[in-house]
Amino acid sequence: MIAVTTIEEVRQYVASWKKQGYTIGLVPTMGYLHEGHASLVDKAVEMCDKVVVSDFVNPTQFGPGEDLETYPRDFEMDCKLLEEHGADLVFHPEVDEMYLEDAATYVEILNDMPKQLCGKTRPIHFRGVCTVVSKLFNIVTPDKAFFGMKDAQQLSIICKMVRDMSYGIEIVGCPIIREDDGLAKSSRNTYLSPEERKAALVLSKAVKLGEGMARNGEKSCENILKAQVQLIEKEPLAKIDYVSAVDFNTLKQSQSVEEGTLFAMAVYIGKTRLIDNFLYKEGE
Ligand code: PAJ
Repeated sequence: MIAVTTIEEVRQYVASWKKQGYTIGLVPTMGYLHEGHASLVDKAVEMCDKVVVSDFVNPTQFGPGEDLETYPRDFEMDCKLLEEHGADLVFHPEVDEMYLEDAATYVEILNDMPKQLCGKTRPIHFRGVCTVVSKLFNIVTPDKAFFGMKDAQQLSIICKMVRDMSYGIEIVGCPIIREDDGLAKSSRNTYLSPEERKAALVLSKAVKLGEGMARNGEKSCENILKAQVQLIEKEPLAKIDYVSAVDFNTLKQSQSVEEGTLFAMAVYIGKTRLIDNFLYKEGE
């Protein structure tokens, strides 16, 4: 696997691959990789000839007081995992390679989508995500890009950005990878103490409860959300940020359970904010 730190090097490798007729897959990440990220790489390897992974903790998507400085990093471990999963190139730039000192351009969706769900407590988050992903699209010019359903709002917003800006890149959504006990894998799980790690199971339990109700024919989002909230509130270490039902494509609030209804939650376990969700699909 090739490891590079500059935009110019990425462009050179990609250009030579395109000349040879290869298709390019991009997996954007912030590093500290786990099996969730690896599943995106696997999918990309399956669907594309060459796979580029970006490994960059993007400062513009962190708000004041968030965990930019403490966000876990281990590039050596990341390279090992990526090599094992067959990535061709990892792009690991410094902040000043991605953002010039006088950078003043952002990519921002101006409807309500970035203001819903996580956007309520993280107002600048999706502007940062759209800006960096947009830059990565311009640097790598992939045929396909791979994102996890773990960050369902992010996936929905990226799809919208790609449609609005005519990127001509296929966005491939990949399922949530979980620990054996159900907790969705996340780089931020390392923040949890052993006691909090146990308490964090309340998210996946609430997801499972809601999913079961929906599959058994419950059509009222309100009833499902109420049951989820009740379950989460039984856990003393948990503090709900939001538990919501929205349409996956528009992120507008849903009243009744339909194809594409997204049940999403963010819950603080101690100081750590965790997210989880399920997407309702007919016949599944
Ligand atoms: P990061 O949190 O590192 O996640 C990178 C990708 O891995 C995202 O598409 C995310 O949804 C996916 N992912 C994380 N945990 C997962 C899991 N348990 N199962 C399946 N997929 C999982 O998301 C970001 O980075 C950043 O916002 C980024 C898009 C790279 C822009 O900076």
